[in-house]
Amino acid sequence: MDNVFQQCISPACGATYSVVDVRVSCEKCGGLLDVSYDWDRLQPPKQLDWFEQKWSQRHEPLSLSGVWRFRELLPFAPAEQVVTIGEGQTLLQHAKGLNRFVGLAGGQIHLQYEGLNPSGSFKDNGMVAAFTHAHMTGAKRAACASTGNTSASLALYCSVTKLMKAVIFIGSGKISYGKLSQALDYGALTVQIAGDFDDAMHRVKQVSQKLGIYLVNSVNPFRLEGQKTIMFRVLESLRWQTPDWIVVPGGNLGNSSAFGKAFVELKKLGLIDRIPRLAVINAVGANTLYELYHKRGLRWNGGQPNMSIAERYFAELDAEKRRASTIASAIEINRPVNLNKCLRALEDCDGVVREATEQEMMDAKAQVGANGLGCEPASAASVAGVKQLVAEGVIGRDERVVCILTGHQLKDPTATVAYHTTDQEQFNKVLGSRGVRRAAFANRAVAVGNDLEEIIRAIQLYS
Ligand code: F0G
Repeated sequence: MDNVFQQCISPACGATYSVVDVRVSCEKCGGLLDVSYDWDRLQPPKQLDWFEQKWSQRHEPLSLSGVWRFRELLPFAPAEQVVTIGEGQTLLQHAKGLNRFVGLAGGQIHLQYEGLNPSGSFKDNGMVAAFTHAHMTGAKRAACASTGNTSASLALYCSVTKLMKAVIFIGSGKISYGKLSQALDYGALTVQIAGDFDDAMHRVKQVSQKLGIYLVNSVNPFRLEGQKTIMFRVLESLRWQTPDWIVVPGGNLGNSSAFGKAFVELKKLGLIDRIPRLAVINAVGANTLYELYHKRGLRWNGGQPNMSIAERYFAELDAEKRRASTIASAIEINRPVNLNKCLRALEDCDGVVREATEQEMMDAKAQVGANGLGCEPASAASVAGVKQLVAEGVIGRDERVVCILTGHQLKDPTATVAYHTTDQEQFNKVLGSRGVRRAAFANRAVAVGNDLEEIIRAIQLYS
C-alpha cells in the first residue's frame, strides 16, 4: 500500500482508496473518508520547532504559505503540484481586553484571526489543500455549496490560478453581501437555489457526481488536511505549547473535525504530549450538534455511534419543516456533513458542545471588535461560548483558551451596522426580529448638521 491513502473513518469498515481517487464517501459503507498516512514510511519532523527553519525561507512560496510550511504533516501532494496563493498568514492575538467579558481571571484568551486569509476566512486553509488535490487529479471544474465563505474561497483560487472554473451553489437570500460580492467579482458561475444551505448541499452533491465536477465542500477529506494547519499555527504562536482549550463555531463541522485529527496525529507522532480540550459552539437557530451531543447523548462511541438518534432528529426536523435560522448566516446549517468526524474529535479531545443565542453572538462580536481586529457574527459564537463555559465552571478562570475567529469583520456589514445603529427600525429589522433585545456594546454614530460649530460641540462633548 502507498504511504498516503484515503480511508473510511468507520473502524468496522476501514476501506482504503488511492490518494488520487476522487470521492467524498466510502463506496462500501457510505461513511466519511480520512486522508491517512503511513508515518513510519514518511519523514515527519521529530520536534515541532523544526518548522522554525521555514521562517528564513519565506522567499519560497511553499515556505511562506501558512498551510504548506507544515506540509510534512499533510504530505499528500508532490511539491510540483502544490498550489498556493499565499494563504495562512494569520495571527494569534492575546486579547487581554476580553478577559473581563468572558470572566477569565488569571487565564488568557487568545484570538486566532483566520479572517486575515486572502479571501477573508479560514476556508483558504482547506481550499488550497482540496484545490491542490483537484489539480493532482486533473479537474477542470470545481463546485461547492456555501453559506458564502467556501464559495468566496473557491472563486478566488479559480480566479488567481486559472486552473479551474468555479461553480458555486448558494441558498437564495441566505448569503451576506460581502461574500456574494466576492464570488461575483472573482467570476464564479453562481447558482442561486431557491432554498437554504442544506438544500444547496444536497443538490451540489448530486450535480457534481452527475457531471464529474470536483467537490470542494468539507466532506472532501483533503479540505480538512489544510484546516489542520490552523492548529499548527496556533501552536507555533504559543511557541509550541498546547493551550487548555480550543473553541470554535460549529456549522458543517469541518474545523472541529480537522482540529481533532491534527491533535491526534501530533500526539501519535510524539510532537505534543497532551491534547487540548475542544468546545464547539452552535448558534441556537442551527443547533443540530448541540441537540444531538449535549441533549440526546449521541457519541462517537469508539467508532460505533448510535446513528438512529441522529436519524430520529432529522426526521423531526423534516416533519416540523424546521429550517436553520440565525444572524450568523455562515453557520446556518441543520445537517452538518461532518457530524461523525466531529463526534470522533469530541471524543479524542474530551470535548463539549454549547449553543449561543443571537444576542450572545452579537454582544461577543462587538466585544471582539472593541478589543481586537473584529470578526463576523458566526466567529463570535466561539467567544460567546467561552463566556458560558467559564460561568459554568467548565473552563477554569485561570486556563489558556484559544478562540478561532473564522471570518473577517467585513464579511457581514449588515449585522454590524444594525447593532451599532441609532435607527430603531433598522435594528428591529435585522436584529430585533431575531430576538436581539439591546445592543449593550453599541458605538453609536453622532449625527450633526453640516455646521462647524455643531461639529466641534459634538466632538468636545463625546471625546
Ligand atoms: N465560521 C465561518 C465564518 C464560516 O464560514 C463557517 C462555515 C463556519 C464558521 C463553520 O465552520 O463548517 O467548519 O463548522 N461556512 C461554510 C461556507 C459552511 O459555506 O462558507 P465548519
